[in-house]
Amino acid sequence: MQPDGPEEANYRGFQADRERALSCSRRALAGLMQLKLLVTPLARGAWFDERLEVAREELALLLPGVEAEIEHRAGLELLSVELAKERVPELARLSFLQAAFEVTGDALRPLALEPAYALPSALVTEARYPGKTNERVTAQAVNVALAVAGHGPHRLLDPVAGRGTTLLTAARYGIEAYGVERDVKALADFRRNVKKITKLHRIKHKLSEGSVIKRRRDGAGRYLAFTFPQSGVRLVVGDSADPQLVGRGRYTLVVGDLPYGIQHRGPGGRRDPLDTLAACAPTWAAALAPGGAMVLIFNALQPRPERLHALFAQQGLELLPTRCTHRMSESIVRQLAVFRRPVAS
Ligand SMILES: C[S@@+](CC[C@H](N)C(=O)[O-])C[C@H]1O[C@@H](n2cnc3c(N)ncnc32)[C@H](O)[C@@H]1O
Repeated sequence: MQPDGPEEANYRGFQADRERALSCSRRALAGLMQLKLLVTPLARGAWFDERLEVAREELALLLPGVEAEIEHRAGLELLSVELAKERVPELARLSFLQAAFEVTGDALRPLALEPAYALPSALVTEARYPGKTNERVTAQAVNVALAVAGHGPHRLLDPVAGRGTTLLTAARYGIEAYGVERDVKALADFRRNVKKITKLHRIKHKLSEGSVIKRRRDGAGRYLAFTFPQSGVRLVVGDSADPQLVGRGRYTLVVGDLPYGIQHRGPGGRRDPLDTLAACAPTWAAALAPGGAMVLIFNALQPRPERLHALFAQQGLELLPTRCTHRMSESIVRQLAVFRRPVAS
C-alpha cells in the first residue's frame, strides 16, 4: 500500500478533529459531560488485580445507566464515562476515586468534587490493628448498601464490628452506627484509637458507656459510644446472634466484614465460619427494616457463596447481583454478598 501523502494525512486529521467537535457538541446538546475518573493508586491494596473491574461494578450500581470504559493513559488508570452535569456530585464518594477530570478537546480539566463528610478521614484511616478491614473496601460496602437501600434517614448495624472501621465510615457519612463484637478486648482498643485520633485532630465528641441489657457475668451488652455533632457510633460487646443485643427492624443498613476463618477461627478452632453464620442469620436478617440493604464482605472460598446466599435467602432476603470479586491471596477471594429486605415481606 502507498504511504499517505501530506494532503491525505491532513485530510484525515481534519476529519478526526471534525468528528471530535461534532461528538462534543452532540454531548453538549444532550447535557452530557465526558469525564475521566482517576482510580486511586491505593485501589491496588484494596482490590488487587481486579481493582478496575471492581471500580466499574461500584460505579454501575451507584450511577445506574452510566457505562464506564477502562483506560490506561500515561501510567494512570482511568474510567471513562459520560455523565449529565447535574449527576457529577454523585461521583464524590466513590470508594476508588482519586480525582475526576472533564475532557475538553485534548485537555483534562480537574473537577472540584466536594464530598460532604461529617468527619475527617483520619478517624477511619489512622487506627492500625491486626484484622482491620481495608478502609476503601469498607467504604465501598457502605456505598453499595446505601445505593440499594435508597433514600434515608439511615441507621447502620455492623454485627461483626471488630474495632469499628464500618461504624466510623458510617459516622463520616452522617449515619448513626451500632456495632456488635464478641471480642471483649475490642472495647478498650476502640476507646484508645478513637480517643487518640479525636484528640490529635480536635474532633468534637462526647464519650459515654454503659450496658444495653441487664449486666451479665460474661460482660455481654457493655457498650462504648462516641457522639459527634452529626452522627454517633456505639460498639457493644457480645454475640450478634443474640436478638437482645441487636433488636428487630431497627436498621436500614447492615454491613459487615465476616471473619475469614484464618485470623478469626470459629468455635473449636474450625475454619469454616458457616456454623457461626447459620446461628447469626435469623437475627441479622430480622434487624433489617423493610427496603433495607445488607452487604456482607466475605471470603468466597469459605463459605462458598451459594451456601451463604442460601442462608440469608431462607430469612426472606433478596439476593442482588453485585459481587465485586477480587483475589487477595492464595486462600482469600474477597466478595460482597448483597441483599435487600423486600418492602412487603
Ligand atoms: C474481619 S473482622 C471485622 C473487622 C472490622 N471490620 C474492623 O475493621 O475492625 C470480623 C470480626 O467479627 C467478629 N465476630 C465473629 N463472629 C461474631 C459474632 N457472632 N458476634 C460478634 N462478633 C463476631 C470477630 O471477633 C472479628 O473481630
